Amino acid sequence: MGLVGDKITIRGGRPLVGRIEVKGAKNLVTKAMVAALLGETPSILRDVPNISDVRIVRGLLEAHGVKVTEGDEPGSLMLDPVDVESAHYADIDAHAGSSRIPILFCGPLLHRLGEAFIPDLGGCRIGDRPIDYHLEVLRKFGAVVEKQESGIRMSAPNGLKGTKVELPYPSVGATEQVLLTAVRAEGITELKNAAIEPEIMDLINILQKMGAIITVDTDRVIRIEGVDSLQGYQHRALFDRNEAASWAAAALATDGDIFVGGAKQAEMLTFLNVFRKVGGAFDIHDDGIRFYHPGGDLKPVIIETDVHPGFMTDWQQPLVIALTHAHGVSIVHETVYEQRFGFVDALVEMGATIQIHRECLGGHPCRFGQRNFNHSAVIAGPTKLVGADIEVPDLRGGFSHLIAALTAEGTSTVSNVGIISRGYENFITKLRLLGADFDLAG
Ligand code: EPZ
Repeated sequence: MGLVGDKITIRGGRPLVGRIEVKGAKNLVTKAMVAALLGETPSILRDVPNISDVRIVRGLLEAHGVKVTEGDEPGSLMLDPVDVESAHYADIDAHAGSSRIPILFCGPLLHRLGEAFIPDLGGCRIGDRPIDYHLEVLRKFGAVVEKQESGIRMSAPNGLKGTKVELPYPSVGATEQVLLTAVRAEGITELKNAAIEPEIMDLINILQKMGAIITVDTDRVIRIEGVDSLQGYQHRALFDRNEAASWAAAALATDGDIFVGGAKQAEMLTFLNVFRKVGGAFDIHDDGIRFYHPGGDLKPVIIETDVHPGFMTDWQQPLVIALTHAHGVSIVHETVYEQRFGFVDALVEMGATIQIHRECLGGHPCRFGQRNFNHSAVIAGPTKLVGADIEVPDLRGGFSHLIAALTAEGTSTVSNVGIISRGYENFITKLRLLGADFDLAG
């Protein structure tokens, strides 16, 4: 990608046209790297994107003695956990506030070393993002959890034992926590109300390759029989459906035509339905999906974000820009994160008509309705966006700001774009390939 400065100046109005490729999903790859800690032999992970979240996890693994080297093809990593050791405090602390993945190191480190220390967590500011489910799960397995000023220290004086867990909400991270801990715990673990996102299913594929015994039943129940040892894996990561949906949204909003190489239909069914309802078109190919604006007016929709197989929360932010062009009133009811509309202020400044409400407006009440969170957006269109100076608030909101600037009349300066490289590989190069008109600045 070359160095991304903190600012990008975009001259809007050009459709994005061309072909780009997406690699492995950020939200699988980072967890698959942690899973390598559980093996007694090295693992090889293919299609790893060059994004900063991957670099953070790599740094944390290396701090714990895992040797990480380039694998057998470009974009693959070899992860050798044979010499896993406790990390120095300073090396762990260097990663404080940078990502949420460190919490998933706990189970594997407790199995390998009997102790774990994790720094304060980071990640996008899209809500409170507590880790209470994670800590409760680890305690149930037998971990002793001690909160300290600079992080959380854990130990497992009597080893970790299989348990019964019922999550209050099908949390992606807490489900992964259970999986990564239960595979080597003694006995059987039963997890109720599990998340079943495709990235979780691919993590289960990886764990099975390593020697784990995991059954996925109907009704969000997962059973794991603990085993004594696991081996390394070889795996090609599932494609990044969030990145694919983001470029699809960019194609629609800019009247463009983008072929997203590597995108697959099955994991995007729900997105594709909404994309079509808004007025977008797509062609499914063996090697990717072509997303385009087929002409005609865009139509308003009502979207409620949800856990899989619902409409993903990560898809709403990029799609909102196309909804500002739709003829009529759209509603986006965000039910996964209580504060995922921080990106909207900038859009209003650019001329969008968007109001945020505390009520559940999508039709179904959600857990945020009684709690006074601004979690429903009403978008009245069509509006023309005009260029402005805007600042990226979070990863997906940042990508939606790029789309807004690309569709706006005149010039926009988008600052803080470094956040976008947490989850979008080579996005500057891809924008250039697709014909965007911009300069890097600052
Ligand atoms: C993962 O976050 C993803 N991140 C998110 O992607 C994604 O939006 C989210 O899953 C939902 O699909 C990664 O995979 C690294 P959750 P995660 O636990 O695991 C509450 C992106 O832009 N909760 O499913 O942190 C939580 O506050 C990012 O790529 C608790 O209350 O999400 C939220 O309301 C952003 N206590 C809900 O559950 C807990 O201990 C769902 O969160 C854990 C979660």
